[in-house]
Amino acid sequence: MTESNNIESILSSDVTIEPPEAFRAKARTSLESYQEKYQRSLDDPQGFWGDIARELHWFTPFEQVVQWDPPFARWFDGGTTNICYNAVDRHAEGARANKAAIIWEGEPGDTRTLTWRELHREVQRFANVLRRYGVEKGDRIAIYMPMVPEAAIAMLACARLGAIHSVVFGGFSANALRDRILDAGAKVVLTADGAWRRGSVLPLKEAVDAAVTECPCVEHVVVLRRTGNDVNMTEGRDVWWHEAEQQVELTCPAEPVEAEHPLFILYTSGTTGKPKGVLHTTGGYMVGTYLTSREVFDLRDDDLYWCTADVGWVTGHSYIVYGPLLNGATIFMYEGAPNWPEVDRFWDMIERWKISILYTAPTAVRAFMKWGDQWPAKHDLSSLRLLGSVGEPINPEAWLWYYRVIGGERCPIVDTWWQTETGAIMLTTLPGAHHMRPGYAGLPFYGVDAAVVDEQGNPVPDGTGGLLVIRRPWPSMLRTVYGDDQRYKDTYWSKIEGCYFAGDGAVRNAADGYFEVLGRIDDVLNVSGHRLGTMEIESALVSHPAVAEAAVVGRPDDLKGEAVVAFVILEGGRTGDADLAAELKAHVANEIGAIAKPEEIRFTGALPKTRSGKIMRRLLRKIAAGDEDFGDTTTLEDPSIIAQLTAKGF
Ligand code: WT7
Repeated sequence: MTESNNIESILSSDVTIEPPEAFRAKARTSLESYQEKYQRSLDDPQGFWGDIARELHWFTPFEQVVQWDPPFARWFDGGTTNICYNAVDRHAEGARANKAAIIWEGEPGDTRTLTWRELHREVQRFANVLRRYGVEKGDRIAIYMPMVPEAAIAMLACARLGAIHSVVFGGFSANALRDRILDAGAKVVLTADGAWRRGSVLPLKEAVDAAVTECPCVEHVVVLRRTGNDVNMTEGRDVWWHEAEQQVELTCPAEPVEAEHPLFILYTSGTTGKPKGVLHTTGGYMVGTYLTSREVFDLRDDDLYWCTADVGWVTGHSYIVYGPLLNGATIFMYEGAPNWPEVDRFWDMIERWKISILYTAPTAVRAFMKWGDQWPAKHDLSSLRLLGSVGEPINPEAWLWYYRVIGGERCPIVDTWWQTETGAIMLTTLPGAHHMRPGYAGLPFYGVDAAVVDEQGNPVPDGTGGLLVIRRPWPSMLRTVYGDDQRYKDTYWSKIEGCYFAGDGAVRNAADGYFEVLGRIDDVLNVSGHRLGTMEIESALVSHPAVAEAAVVGRPDDLKGEAVVAFVILEGGRTGDADLAAELKAHVANEIGAIAKPEEIRFTGALPKTRSGKIMRRLLRKIAAGDEDFGDTTTLEDPSIIAQLTAKGF
């Protein structure tokens, strides 16, 4: 460390930290090899990506690495492959056959270990269950499950058949699930009776029942028994997982699919009221997650790798399931909450299982920090050798705490910037090769041509804020918004000519070219690392009969990053109170999910609008944050409303 152990000085002096020597000595990548490979990946993308892709299995070799017909890319055309075959079958024979593929711990403390051979068998058997219920290549399957090995098995089984999975986070409400099932036209829904969360049962099947009543496309629901609570089974439609498995064969070959065959749809929030179905395809996503997992996490056969995300988010897709398994790495999966039965659950599991790589979110790090150093101090964390962060900018204070208290100053931290749309990590440091700069994600990964530009697309000088863009296609990029090519073009490729626009602001550091990602510049919030569209929450509010109009903004929050604050105008001049605020919060939870619940609701008679009728969100953000300097309000239609907006809400 270049500074004394004084956090104040570190926070103010923008220090850099060299990779710990013991790690550097054994690291996969050196500074020189990064530079050389990065240069090649830009100068000769066909050669670079072709070589990486050929490390994996292709049933038919690809003829062309990339074809770019902006904004539509095709990768590995002519080739056929199967990501499940590459992630499972390749490791199920030979040296890894009896090595653990998945080590899982349930919230109540039950455990399960699946070797590669067992995983192979389970995936084949479940693929046969899907086939038995009519699933064919190209069909869409919704997965609404707890964090159990069967969730990964279900995803892999879909991929094995060429069926397209759409995993919906178990925290989303029945209504949100219904919208996603309908948009994708899912034929089968995979779920469980319930999920364990802080000692109680989250009734997943109940939500599925409510959703599916309104989804004529759904033919079958396969239900895993997990929590043992009573559930209703609809005759002819619903089937128990374990019973269905008894009726099928144990072997099911992987279906060769074209490189551009869709692999999954994952819904994410944007700037409209309707979530986008981000579509990823097989070959490019496979190659991107395979390489990033290996290089960014320095993966080895003897690692026990734990990504704490839920499979319902892209992090769970790319860095619990596909990327690590493609590398034959052993993954750890945990079902429940970090503070159950006590706030040291993570440290307890790291000690007991000897986890070596931990990939988590800044919001979690800040919660651990708040709970206190005494909890990790009770445990031996010396098995850890690498730490990762993802989901939102990590503030230097949390970074340093993570580095010292969890990593014992022994473990490099990789702060990885990417998105649902990018499929794989885009900006990061490579552990051991690069120095770290707390608060900065780092450098572009191989093949990533990142830049910070102004509204016209001109690069801004280092040290100046601008828009983060990617200037050429990369293998794991989204291919479109499901069923909506126009929205794909408009959202990502129209703002800056010829560039992918990420929606984030960034600054590049003049000294080392490291990117600092500043956060969203559009109307998208980041609450506890979860992406929420303000418009989506506004439409949820307005769907309540008492609400006439609503405006939602984010307010900086020490733990969550951002908290949701809603300004609400009621119908017929009604006045709001605490009861109605509670009702509206519950309504949002019901429409979207508990993660979208406003932290505060402020009732108002009017919203600040410009004379042209646009809501002044900038002003609302300041008001919500308690900032007294409102800036220029001369364009405001009715300046007298500020008093109402600043009054405390419920
Ligand atoms: C948005 C993407 C990528 C998996 C999890 C979230 C923010 C993500 C970082 C980081 C600063 C980050 C960005 C991005 N973000 N990682 N390391 N530093 N910001 O996926 O839901 O698609 O959200 O998360 O704002 O645009 P997502």
